[in-house]
Amino acid sequence: MNVSVVGTGYVGTTLSACLADLGHRVTAIDIDEGTVERLNEGETPIHEPGLGSLVSAYAGRRLTASTDHAAAAETDLTVLAVGTPAKADGSIDAAALVAAAEDVGEAIAEKDGYHLVVVKSTVLPDVIEGEVVPAIETASGKTDGGSLGVAVNPEFLREGSAVDDFMNPDKIVLGTDGDERALDALAELYQPLLSEWEIPVVETGRREAAMIKYANNAFLAAKISLINDIGNVCKEFGVDAYEVADAIGLDSRIGSAFLRSGVGWGGSCFPKDTAALAAAAESVGYEPLVIDATIELNDRQPERLLELLDAHVDVDGRRIAVLGLAFKPGTDDVRGSRAKPVVRGLLDRGADVVAYDPRAAENMAEAFPDIEYAGSAAEALEGAHGAAVVTDWPEFGDLDAAFDAMADPVVVDGRRVVARREGITYEGLTW
Ligand code: UDX
Repeated sequence: MNVSVVGTGYVGTTLSACLADLGHRVTAIDIDEGTVERLNEGETPIHEPGLGSLVSAYAGRRLTASTDHAAAAETDLTVLAVGTPAKADGSIDAAALVAAAEDVGEAIAEKDGYHLVVVKSTVLPDVIEGEVVPAIETASGKTDGGSLGVAVNPEFLREGSAVDDFMNPDKIVLGTDGDERALDALAELYQPLLSEWEIPVVETGRREAAMIKYANNAFLAAKISLINDIGNVCKEFGVDAYEVADAIGLDSRIGSAFLRSGVGWGGSCFPKDTAALAAAAESVGYEPLVIDATIELNDRQPERLLELLDAHVDVDGRRIAVLGLAFKPGTDDVRGSRAKPVVRGLLDRGADVVAYDPRAAENMAEAFPDIEYAGSAAEALEGAHGAAVVTDWPEFGDLDAAFDAMADPVVVDGRRVVARREGITYEGLTW
């Protein structure tokens, strides 16, 4: 197929490269000239395992990039993969998505015949019906259900395994309200994947498809917050929450994934999507108790970690190491990272913070330009009176000699990556 993808963020770029790999001809469209140039030169604007080789293999062949939305008119369908950031009150800002929808609408105004627009961006049901569809209809002069189709097809990619997740999805969700032409086009788009694997395809309404994405992320975030809540109780009673989690995970109704308790969840999706769902519920007068508690518990975990440290050392005026700044290992992304409240809490207590992360220090420095960044974990630990482990980078499991070089070997571990041993004062957050 001839496909256009608007937005070259982490979803859009992954999707463009993967669709090219499936055999489609893809035009990636973005207003950012630099990104478009880089893509055309075969370079990826984001770092994901396997993405660089796909982009360099297909750039200039089945994958081209453009700043001109008019390119959409030359394609069979257009995927909108534009970011929907959070506003201060947690609700989503759909302005960029609506602007992209208008641009695509203008581009396809003169196109003969049917054009399908596929919304991949994470948006609440009302935004599709109330903003995206009207924007395309007005700009194109076409009617939804007539020569225009609009489908909702959410994405469940994880950072660090986005290409793999695209190629081996747990499910494909097609929100079309039963529109046959839209379903046929989407079936053709995913055909190479569907013919290779047995992937459940969920055919549903557009509103349901939009909600599935929020429900998926809210459920996963709630699962982690629940195991963190249980973990906090475990800690109070001297019980190892990981042994408890291993056992309950054997119950097939619970499942073993996402049961690692600790300092909490972050990233580009969970914080934004739980806040948006809660804000949407409140806007219609419903108090989403569990979602609110999911967020609140996550907000409190960093402080619990710091209280464990307070119990052993007065951090005021002392050098304290923070190990791990990325929201999870394998990325340089610090969005929603639990390291931010940990660093802030330490600074509020008057600590002299020295931070280390193998990849995310530069991004963290934008939020905290005035703390010290060490070149290695050993350098951060040297002479420190305490250490807080915030990200489960595997290298933190191998720091024995470095702990011995601390002024006070107090280690509070928010991820169960350091082993408890003689010679250090070790506290696990939930064990
Ligand atoms: C998540 C969803 O998994 C993905 O489907 C969606 O499309 C985007 O959001 P991602 O943000 O890349 O993906 O990260 P993920 O690997 O899911 O981890 C999210 C956060 O939860 C991380 O901060 C991680 O440290 C934390 N986490 C995860 C736990 O604290 N415990 C766990 O058991 C699992």
